Amino acid sequence: MDWGMKNRMSRLISPETGRAVWLAIDHGYFLGPLTKLEEPAKTIKPLIPFTDALMLTRGILRNCVDANLPVPIILRVSGGNSIVGPALSNEDIQTSMEEAIRLNASAIAFSIYVGTEHEHKTLIALGKLVDEGQRYGIPVLAVTAVGKELEKRDTRYLALCCRIAAELGAQAVKTYYCEEFEKVVKGCPVPLVIAGGPKLKTEHDALRLAKSAIKKGAKGVDMGRNIWQSPNAVGMIKAIRKIVHENASVEEAVKLLKKLKT
Ligand code: 5RP
Repeated sequence: MDWGMKNRMSRLISPETGRAVWLAIDHGYFLGPLTKLEEPAKTIKPLIPFTDALMLTRGILRNCVDANLPVPIILRVSGGNSIVGPALSNEDIQTSMEEAIRLNASAIAFSIYVGTEHEHKTLIALGKLVDEGQRYGIPVLAVTAVGKELEKRDTRYLALCCRIAAELGAQAVKTYYCEEFEKVVKGCPVPLVIAGGPKLKTEHDALRLAKSAIKKGAKGVDMGRNIWQSPNAVGMIKAIRKIVHENASVEEAVKLLKKLKT
C-alpha cells in the first residue's frame, strides 16, 4: 500500500487497536429526513468526539459539519436512487474523485448491489473508483447493499458480496452481521465492518450485535440508527467503543451505558 493510502487507512482504523467505530449518517441520500436525522448537525454534534470517522454525503458534510473539526470523513459517492423510486439498486457514482479530494475525504464509500438487475453497473463502477483511488491514494469502502430485500442478509449471500468487493479491489468492506459471520470474514481478505441496520428493540441487542461481530473477526462498526436513534446516543457510542476498542463484554458495555443515562 502506498504511503498516502496507508496514512488515510490509519486515520480510519486505529493502529493501536486495529479496530474502528464509524458513525454512519448518510441515510438521507435515498431515505430523506428520517427520524433523528432531520437536522443532522444537531444529532451528530455530541457524537463527533467519540467517532473515528463520519460517513456521509457531500451535501451534509458541507452544510452540517464544521470544517474545523478533525474528524476523518468517509464520503458516500454513490446515489441516484430513492426509497419511492422504481429500484433501490439503481445507483451510480454521483460524486467525483476530484470532489472527494477537494473535501479531504479519508475514504470514499460506494454501494454494490450483487444479484440485482444493476449488479453489473455497480460492480464496474466500483472497479473504476478503485482505479481512481489507487491513483490518488484514497481508499474505497464497498458497501454490500441489499436494497429493500432485507431477507438477503444470509451467510452465503454476504460472503459472496464481500469477496467480490475485495476481489475488485475495495480496501475495506461494509456488510451486515449474519449467522456464521466468521465465514464471511474468512473469505474476505480486507477489513470488514458491520452496519447496524434498522433500530433494534433494545440497546442491549445492538451491543450484542457489535460484540458478536467483533468476536467473529469484524474490524469494527459503521453504525447509524442504533446509535443516533437511541435516547442515550452518547452513551451508546461510548458503549460501542468499549466493545470495539477495549474488548469489553456486553455486560460491561451495558453497565457503562446505564451510568451515562441522560
Ligand atoms: C446505507 C448505509 C448506511 O450507512 C448503513 O446502513 C449504516 O447505518 P445503519 O447502522 O443505520 O444501518 O450504508 O446503505
